Amino acid sequence: MTDVLNRLTLGKLPLTYRFLFTSFLLVVGLGLCMAGAQIMLTHGMADGKPGLSMDDIVYSYYGNRSGSKLEAALTGKMKDKAPANVNITLIKWVRDGAKEAEWEKVEPLFQKYCGNCHDAESGLPEVTKLEAAKSLAEVDHGASISSLTRVSHIHLFGISFIFLFVGLIFAMAEFNTLWKIVLITTPFAFLVLDVASWWLTKFWPEFAWFTMIGGMGYSLAALVMFGASFAQMWLPRWTKK
Ligand code: HEC
Repeated sequence: MTDVLNRLTLGKLPLTYRFLFTSFLLVVGLGLCMAGAQIMLTHGMADGKPGLSMDDIVYSYYGNRSGSKLEAALTGKMKDKAPANVNITLIKWVRDGAKEAEWEKVEPLFQKYCGNCHDAESGLPEVTKLEAAKSLAEVDHGASISSLTRVSHIHLFGISFIFLFVGLIFAMAEFNTLWKIVLITTPFAFLVLDVASWWLTKFWPEFAWFTMIGGMGYSLAALVMFGASFAQMWLPRWTKK
């Protein structure tokens, strides 16, 4: 049995299997690119600037605990929408805990200065409604435990399956055995590191760089395995031996 498995090489596989594996790797490769693009578009914009940075990771998992989204808007992007004294009144309401009892006082200000754009049709948060204003006034604690558990288990199950198949294919490549073992196990190790880093960053923002390393780690291992598998399935150097 071991002998048979050891003699299986990608270049010697029947054409059907090579087409199957190639199709699978191409689609998975496309999926990985999309995953990368999605990370850039969601987490990448968390700090308001394009491109993935440490701040993005910290904002996504730990949150921006220096204040609420509403306060950040009133001192940042939305600063020029209302006169300074109005901004101060609104910020004060936010800092005092966005009390319902004082809504009467601030509602006309939200209506007057924000309502034009932040209406029901705009798709922007309706800051003229108490509900929306209140939730924007809460300090941003980043990802919730329930969303982290959900994303973690999907990620661990889903991605380990992808790397099981990528690894099964690459296991048939002609490669130094030690390196083969390292490359096949690396994505699993980095997957655990990646998921662990979200949880660590949720509580300690210093761990954000773990997330970066985790992501880069398995992308790199995947790239080597993909490259070697494609080459050995199709290049004459391996198929014509
Ligand atoms: C001229 C139109 C306009 C006015 C007036 C305006 N906003 Fe905005 N606001 C926007 C747009 C457009 C965005 C989203 C684009 C962006 O984030 O750059 C936005 C985003 C925001 C966000 C961020 C939402 C999020 O989910 O992160 C907050 C909070 C906000 N506005 C609050 C206010 C408040 C409070 C006022 C009134 C003082 C106000 N805005 C007035 C157009 C407006």
